Amino acid sequence: MYFADVHCHILPCVDDGASSMREAVAMLQMEYRQGVRTVLLTPHYRRGYFETSRQTVREQFARLCRIMAQDIPDMQLYLGCELYRQNEMGRLLESDSSYCIAGTKYVLIEFMPGDLADTIWRCVGELLIDGYRPVIAHAERYRALRDMKFIRRLVDSGVYIQMNAGSILGECGWSTKHFCSRLLKEGYVHLIGSDAHHTDRRMPCIGPCAEYLRKKLGEREMERLLTENPRAMLAGEYI
Ligand SMILES: [Fe+2]
Repeated sequence: MYFADVHCHILPCVDDGASSMREAVAMLQMEYRQGVRTVLLTPHYRRGYFETSRQTVREQFARLCRIMAQDIPDMQLYLGCELYRQNEMGRLLESDSSYCIAGTKYVLIEFMPGDLADTIWRCVGELLIDGYRPVIAHAERYRALRDMKFIRRLVDSGVYIQMNAGSILGECGWSTKHFCSRLLKEGYVHLIGSDAHHTDRRMPCIGPCAEYLRKKLGEREMERLLTENPRAMLAGEYI
């Protein structure tokens, strides 16, 4: 069984992730060794911080795809974006479809850790009305989402929850690990990403996470989170 990584900063020289093509290829080789065959590249876009043009992002993506076709031909790469919440998201998304995930209606959105539930609700609500499918990036990071009732309300409204593999494994402390475990057990997690940035820190870790999920939740649930749901999302189908 092969896995997908749906959140990472492997696309080189476009944000605070991989700083060279060499590092990007090394990170993809790490992913490959961990059983990953599908990688969704999600460089940051945040006004005032990460504003690499989509043209440059697409060119880098094409370069990386060409290299990987030689290096590891059975690795599938997709282009997306980790979009920091901002005003008028709809207008930005309309301006260039590559802000969405692999040309689908799914959008990976990042909030401020301290954003209020109201802010998050308003933002995803606008996206839903416009026909998008919001995916909340590393949902374990936000204070407002530590409220199970709010999580339920979001999920029931059509919002998807992405969790970081490192947080599941305990890299962000016991309380975050405990929260992740609760959400996983209650079935509120749809997608898992490594959020990998480099080869030596914040590294690809889908493999160890898969092992952990197999032990904790069983083979079937691991497959749903790391293979089936990513496949459905990248095909533009409903998860
Ligand atoms: Fe990220």
